[in-house]
Amino acid sequence: MSWNRRHVLSLADFSPAEYDTVLQTASSFREVLTRRTKKVPTLQGQVVANLFFEPSTRTRSSFELAAKRLSADTLNFAASTSSITKGETILDTAKTYLAMGTDMMVIRHKEAGVPQAIADEMDRLNVKVGVLNAGDGQHEHPSQALLDLFTICSLIDVEKPRSTLLKDKKIAIVGDILHSRVARSNIWSLTASGAEVHLAAPPTLLPKEFAEFVNESDPAISRKLFVHWTLEPALIDADFVMTLRLQKERMTSYLLPSLREYHQQFGITRDRLKLCKPEVRVLHPGPVNRGVEISSDLMDDPVLSLISQQVTSGVAVRMALLYLMGGGKVS
Ligand code: NCD
Repeated sequence: MSWNRRHVLSLADFSPAEYDTVLQTASSFREVLTRRTKKVPTLQGQVVANLFFEPSTRTRSSFELAAKRLSADTLNFAASTSSITKGETILDTAKTYLAMGTDMMVIRHKEAGVPQAIADEMDRLNVKVGVLNAGDGQHEHPSQALLDLFTICSLIDVEKPRSTLLKDKKIAIVGDILHSRVARSNIWSLTASGAEVHLAAPPTLLPKEFAEFVNESDPAISRKLFVHWTLEPALIDADFVMTLRLQKERMTSYLLPSLREYHQQFGITRDRLKLCKPEVRVLHPGPVNRGVEISSDLMDDPVLSLISQQVTSGVAVRMALLYLMGGGKVS
């Protein structure tokens, strides 16, 4: 078990031991969440500030609940009702929270690199504030990929979820890869765990350069990452299928003929899952465009769909991250 990070900004340099530390710690917090008193005093007296410069339902609420379950005091910030609207810079907002005694900052922003910039500033000021990236532009969303990993590994072995369980599993990631920070973080975590990751999307949402870039950046990953511009080869014998939302708000031009046509070619349905392993399960980070990237009935299927488990896992995984960043002991 190992942990030596004040900040969690990207999964690009996470080691298998770190993944296992998160999984094992999350597993103990999952147990806490089943008790009658679902709270531990671990972060009592500490302040966790959720600085969300971009809309969010589950990630923001999940971090807030995670911090509260660890007995931290939480500060919630929403850009639309903040002094950002009066011209305050992001770094000045972060310093305002620092001056109030914030110990950890959870940051979401529509621009890639903002959490990193705030972390750099905290380090420059030599204050021991941890910064967690809760989604930056199209770059990364580490806590989402970690909760996806926890959900998948727990399905395989609920008692002892560990990254080696994914060795040689085939995982399809289908949809708007181009705009997806979730896909980027998952590519790091799943390939590092030994899974084969198959990306599938229309060429406008999965540029050839994307695959080339990842393949060139790390030869170990290139052997584990495959790219398809049709759905079928990604689904054949897949153990898990991760569907992604079409991020219409990030699409600067018309990248698809129509949502109907997209659903016909890349939508995940019960019928299409017949190509996969019989025990296949489906994930989606949410929010979902029902009937577009996934059929409505499949989304609600209590066995095939892991969407609710992902949300539930999110609290335990975020408790684990806050605990570890706050200097919690690694068992
Ligand atoms: C994702 C996000 O915001 O990056 N959602 C999430 O955090 N659960 C994916 C998305 O917006 O489609």
